[in-house]
Amino acid sequence: MQDFVFQNGTKIIFGKEKENLVGQESAVFGKKVLLHYGGGSIQRSGLYDIVLQSLKNKNLEIFELGGVQPNPRVSLVREGIAICKENDINLILAVGGGSVIDSAKAIAAGATYDGDVWDFFTGISQVTDSIPIGVVLTIPAAGSETSAGTVITNEEGWYKRAMGHDSLRPKFSILNPVLTFTLPEYQTACGITDMMAHILERYFTNVKNVELTDRMCEATLQTIISNAQTVLEEPTNYDARAEIMWAGTLAHNDLLGTGRIGDWASHNIEHELSGIYDIAHGAGLAIIFPAWMKYVYSHDVNRFVQFANRVWGVDIDWNYLEKTALAGITKMEQFLRSIGMPIRLSEVDINDQHFEEMADKATEDGPQGNFLKLTRDDIVEIYKIAR
Ligand code: NZQ
Ligand code: ZN
Repeated sequence: MQDFVFQNGTKIIFGKEKENLVGQESAVFGKKVLLHYGGGSIQRSGLYDIVLQSLKNKNLEIFELGGVQPNPRVSLVREGIAICKENDINLILAVGGGSVIDSAKAIAAGATYDGDVWDFFTGISQVTDSIPIGVVLTIPAAGSETSAGTVITNEEGWYKRAMGHDSLRPKFSILNPVLTFTLPEYQTACGITDMMAHILERYFTNVKNVELTDRMCEATLQTIISNAQTVLEEPTNYDARAEIMWAGTLAHNDLLGTGRIGDWASHNIEHELSGIYDIAHGAGLAIIFPAWMKYVYSHDVNRFVQFANRVWGVDIDWNYLEKTALAGITKMEQFLRSIGMPIRLSEVDINDQHFEEMADKATEDGPQGNFLKLTRDDIVEIYKIAR
């Protein structure tokens, strides 16, 4: 196990009707709140009215910026920064999913910075401070409700880039599984795929003697797998939605990565896809992750055998470990297919036109991944496997 520091300061408020506490939680940070949201789901569900009322009950001054798109854009972030600077905003309240939260984080960082916010994503500048962020989560997926990271797309060149800083971890996140009842099947499945990917990025490590976190990863994966069909068939099943929602947070709050070195190549390879083609991040991962597994499994067959056996219940063939490893990858693909995810690029009408360009972009800062370092040519091969 590696040495580590684990600190995740986000206050999590979990359960039914907890969105009513948003005014009280927000008031702690001052009077002026920028309410940030997406393309209309919170208005349709009635959550918008509840949040607004709760803020008004605490006499907070409310500024609004809606219209965050999935794969959030830097142009809207710049609008948010202008609002914060002009009005001395005390808290940015993100009501929505990963895209809204990530947009809020970028605004929060940019609002205390004199230069352009994209500097943080290119590495020209580092975040040192940001406006506090609060969250009411509506889709379990990205894990942004407790993570320090944000992923934003720059329309100039369609670069999708991540950056992070501890000050960007939300101060509080309200998680009410009932708010996820309205999620369409496809979004539910994308979220399930993303949270599984967050665990797998940590699971496939070269660090030895990480039994506790191995088993925590496997338990969280199994919980997601065993509740997935239920949430798809019974979208208003509270217990199953609650398991999925909490799993989504634990998948990405850094606990499961303690003492390990995560891989993260699949995420970076996927970000190029959703950057250029604007597909859902979870759907992109459903295509890329199995392809990555097929490309790298021989680097550590035993780890893939453990994955196949402990997560998917594949019997170990001690004479032919490779067969067991591959059976685990097949099980993963079958599962993704069963929840309605695409598992090949052709299923989302993506051909090989941009493979080289995406691989170039993915390796601009050098090879990707830690389990196995991947060069530009390796990444082209992974896109080819995913065809
Ligand atoms: O925009 P609205 O109208 O709200 O609709 C959203 C959106 O269309 C809809 N939705 C959300 N909650 C709903 C709902 N529809 C009905 N009922 C509800 N309760 O779902 C759609 C997708 O929302 P989005 O926020 O884009 O999804 P997600 O949470 O999966 O976030 C994806 C983004 O997060 C980034 C991804 O790259 C992607 O841009 N990630 C962020 C990470 C982080 N900050 O730590 C890590 C992740 O790996 C990921 O990269
Ligand atoms: Zn992700």
